[in-house]
Amino acid sequence: MFALTGIGHLVTNDESVGEGKLGVLHDAALVADSSGNISWVGKQSELADHFEGKPTDVGGRAVIPGFVDSHTHLVFAGDRALEFESRMQGKPYAAGGIKTTMAATRAATDAVLAANVARLASEALASGTTTLEVKSGYGLSVRDEARSLVAAKTATTETTFLGAHVVPPDTNADDYVALVQGEMLDACKGNAKWIDVFCDRGAFDVDQARAILQSGAAAGLGMRIHANQLQQGGGVQLGVELGVASCDHCTHLSQLDIDALAGASKTTVATLLPTAELCTRSPFPDARKLIDAGVTVALASDCNPGSSYTSSMPLVIALAVINMGMTCDEALWSATAGGAQALRRSDVGNLRVGSRADLVLLDAASHIHLAYRPGVQQVRAVIRGGKTVVESL
Ligand code: NIG
Ligand code: FE
Repeated sequence: MFALTGIGHLVTNDESVGEGKLGVLHDAALVADSSGNISWVGKQSELADHFEGKPTDVGGRAVIPGFVDSHTHLVFAGDRALEFESRMQGKPYAAGGIKTTMAATRAATDAVLAANVARLASEALASGTTTLEVKSGYGLSVRDEARSLVAAKTATTETTFLGAHVVPPDTNADDYVALVQGEMLDACKGNAKWIDVFCDRGAFDVDQARAILQSGAAAGLGMRIHANQLQQGGGVQLGVELGVASCDHCTHLSQLDIDALAGASKTTVATLLPTAELCTRSPFPDARKLIDAGVTVALASDCNPGSSYTSSMPLVIALAVINMGMTCDEALWSATAGGAQALRRSDVGNLRVGSRADLVLLDAASHIHLAYRPGVQQVRAVIRGGKTVVESL
């Protein structure tokens, strides 16, 4: 059990306790119980009625919910620094680079894969990410996808089977789709909560994606989709048709896609991944247009060795505000409560009574500074499940 006081700016994402959609309180305090959940939030002047011990004074700094990064590919070996370098000299990004990482991943031991996941998960935690989704997708064989999910599970319960990332070399596409739906799904489903498909140019078409997602759902997995990253296509509309939790990327959208996402805003989130656009020099999606149309938007890092080798949610927020027309409030909501909605979670991404005490103490007066000071390390402490996991207060 602990209490924080002297919180100059507390974002709860609970409209019923504070200002606006972020539910902001000033001169606030917060109490967590011995199970690591929030037991009280309110004005610091009322803390004494709710906590008997000695609270920790945070000196007027801002406290926000821990980031919920609902889209990462942390299970891999090697890197693609040379591919990045040549891309910066004009070579376009293509899905084919995934095969380079596949070869390195297949050659790596289980211990190396787990160590890479641990390294990247702790990097993410240090920048404030307290909930992380992790996908497989660089094994692309029954054995290597199955052990990728074992590695993913060492870092999170939000694990995603992405056997349908690309068709591996020297393999017939129909045979591979059948493998993903059959033997590979059977080997992976025990360690996966979700199934995902890369539905795009150079990966899987709409019919293949539909068949794979439906097989996953029949095996008890929740559905999500990589859609419309490289070009316009049927991925988003397929996602809406199937009621997936999230359509991710949404870089190239038609008006019909936007209308479909808006109509499905209660069930399907559009997860935008601006560091992928940054690192592939692609156009940023127009988040303003999506939000104004009524789409529920989440923000995530897409951390992977090809298109977005960063786990920094503060950077994602800065890009969303500076390049995608989101307000500072919207970007923070999308990186916390929006990510939680994309994972169909309500116990994280907010600081409501009963939610997990996952929070970030910023070395700043408000969350506005996350976008206002891009690239600056402003995370002073991270608390997850009521325990201080980064730095000490
Ligand atoms: O989300 N789009 C597909 N997968 C990853 C990229 C994977 C890679 O290039 O290694 C993404 O951007
Ligand atoms: Fe991705």
